[in-house]
Parts: sequence; C-alpha cells; structure tokens
Amino acid sequence: MASIEKVGVLGCGLMGSGIAQVSAQAGFDTVVREIDQDALDRGLAAIRKSLDRAVKKERMTGDQRDEVLGRVHGTVDFGPLGDRDIVVEAVVEDLSVKEQVFGKLDELCGADTIFASNTSSLTITEMASVTERPDRFVGLHFFNPVPVMALVEVVRTGFTSDETFEAAWAFAKSVGKQPIACRDNSGFIVNRLLVPYMLDAIRAYEEGIGSIEGIDQGMRLGCGYPMGPFILGDFVGLDTLYKITEIMFDEYREKRFAPPPLLKRMVLAGHHGRKTGIGFYDYGGDEPVVSDFVKR
Ligand code: CAA
Ligand code: NAD
Repeated sequence: MASIEKVGVLGCGLMGSGIAQVSAQAGFDTVVREIDQDALDRGLAAIRKSLDRAVKKERMTGDQRDEVLGRVHGTVDFGPLGDRDIVVEAVVEDLSVKEQVFGKLDELCGADTIFASNTSSLTITEMASVTERPDRFVGLHFFNPVPVMALVEVVRTGFTSDETFEAAWAFAKSVGKQPIACRDNSGFIVNRLLVPYMLDAIRAYEEGIGSIEGIDQGMRLGCGYPMGPFILGDFVGLDTLYKITEIMFDEYREKRFAPPPLLKRMVLAGHHGRKTGIGFYDYGGDEPVVSDFVKR
C-alpha cells in the first residue's frame, strides 16, 4: 500500500473543516468536498477563523497560516477526490447519505485508496459492506473541536486488513492525534459512555432534579469537566446528538440510549445548539443564557 500523501475529506461542517485543517497543518495536500458553494464557503471560513486564532495566539505565523490554507482545496465535485490515498468521510449522521457517498467514491477512487468514516454511532461494517473494498475501510473517529482534542478512535471491522488499520493508525498520529483501537460497536468507546450521560442529564432536567445551569455547573465544578452536559450538547449539535441516539437505541434497544422527548422537540423546532444560535442556551448575547424554549 502506498504511503499517504494526498488526503480527501467529505463534508466541511463542524468536523470535516477541523479534519481538513489538521490534515493540511500536518503537510498533506487536502481536498475537501461539500454539497454546494455556500456550505463550502462556510466550511473554508471556519478553517480560516481557526487558523487566524492560532496566529493571534502566536502559535503560527501569518505565512504558515497561508501555507496551510494553500494546501486546502475546496470543491463541490467528487472528481478531485479520485486520486486521494485516503478519504475521511464527515457528512451528516445518516446511513443512506453515507452509503451514497461511499458508493460514488468506490467507483471513482483507485483500488489502494483507504476509506475512513468519522461516524459517531453507525457501525463501520454497515458502510464498508456497500463497497468493493471492505478490507480497506476503517473508522477514524475524531473529537470536537478537532484542532484541540487529542484523541482519535481507530476502528477495525472483521473485514479490515492489518495493512489498512496500521496505515490509518499512522495517519492519525501524523495529524498530531493519539489513536486508540476500538472494536466496531455502535458508539465505539467514548460515545458508548458519553451519550447515555448526556441523555441522562436531559432526563434529570425533565424530572425536575435541577436547572440547566445547575446541572451544568454541577458537572463542571463537581467533576472538573470542561463543559457541562447541556453546553456540550449544544456544542456537538442537537440534530447530530438526536441522530446518534436514534441509531444507538436502534442498535442496543436499551432505554439509556433512547432520545428524551425534550431533545426531539428541540430538534423539531430547529434549535440545534450553537450552530443555529439557540439550543439549551441562547447564544445571541455576550454570554449564553438558558433559552426561553426550554424554560416554557
Ligand atoms: N477550534 C480551534 N481551536 C479552538 C476551538 C475551535 N473550535 N475552540 C477552542 N480552541 C482552542 C483555543 O484557541 C484555546 O487554545 P490555547 O489554550 O492554546 O489558547 C483552547 O482551545 C482553549 O480554548 P478557550 O480558552 O477559548 O476555551 P476553553 O478553555 O473553554 O476550551 C474547549 C474550549 C477545548 C472546547 C473545552 O471547553 C473542552 O474541552 N470542551 C469539551 C469538548 C468535548 O468534550 N468534546 C467532545 C465532544 S463529543 C465528540 O466529539 C464525539 C461525538 O461523536 C459527538
Ligand atoms: P455538520 O452538520 O456540522 O456537517 C455535516 C456537513 O456534511 C454539512 O456541512 C453538509 O452540508 C455536509 N454534507 C452532507 N451531504 C454531503 C455530501 N453528500 N457530500 C459532502 N458533504 C455533505 O455535522 P458534523 O458535526 O460535522 O458531523 C459530521 C459527522 O461527524 C457525523 O457523522 C457526526 O456524527 C460525526 N461527528 C460529530 C461530532 C460532533 O461533535 N458534532 C463529533 C465526532 C463525530
């Protein structure tokens, strides 16, 4: 298997933009594909903003930022992904969309190209099995915000070859992350533990055990977590969290993974957290305040 030099990223949202950034920062020529020009412009602006922050904090120079940006090539077409050594998929958490993009890539990419999914809760096996290269398919699960969080879960299925797993492991290290090996179970290691905790926080609020601020403060000050569960839910995206719970509940049929009614109502209302400006908190002012929607 050839060494990884050219990287492709599918999706330039919250995660795809971070993955494209760390890839380009590690020196890889990086193509990132979005569905339309507006979404691509938003994603590329997020990369620039994140790099500008690094320049401001004197962690890189303006010239270095420009070099990194020069290695990121945005596109709305699939074609430029055809010559990549690895493609990391970070599109919405929806099996049919992921199957569709991997089907297209499978026709387009060379036989050696490794496919990786950043899914939070789908199994890698269900995506790998729709391609002609299940042995060259892994999970590479990055954490949000990608430029900051040190971990990548590297997930192998029953199909994944040793060569592919080792190449993906080495790739995670080369973009500055600490890999851990995971079996292909829905939620892998971290979300298997984190998701029930976040859902339990919503249920605790629904049961009147504490206020949103109180529960968040409790976990921050009592346990030293950097964010309480509601601020974290808003940060992940409540639309994404809801998809994750539906997938994990469907997989395990256990109540601890079931979406609480409040989460569903918020998603239906279009309150998806920081990305829409309102979630459990309202981000319209200087400081987040608990949103009117959840208080009513
Ligand atoms: N992009 C790039 N850099 C960022 C950033 C972003 N979006 N947000 C923060 N940073 C950087 C800052 O520049 C800063 O760097 P320096 O310390 O070198 O100056 C550092 O991160 C700390 O930032 P701040 O001081 O602004 O804020 P903070 O101390 O509150 O930290 C945080 C922000 C790193 C996000 C921290 O709150 C944290 O760790 N939160 C928990 C995040 C978490 O749990 N992520 C996992 C989510 S679950 C998941 O990802 C899996 C899934 O499948 C859903
Ligand atoms: P997001 O909604 O911010 O971004 C998804 C992007 O995919 C959107 O910009 C959308 O336009 C784009 N997209 C949709 N269909 C596409 C296609 N066919 N081709 C190219 N782009 C397409 O979501 P996100 O938070 O970045 O999540 C992406 C993936 O990463 C999901 O599988 C999610 O479960 C996973 N993930 C999310 C987090 C998190 O904290 N948000 C953490 C780890 C993993």
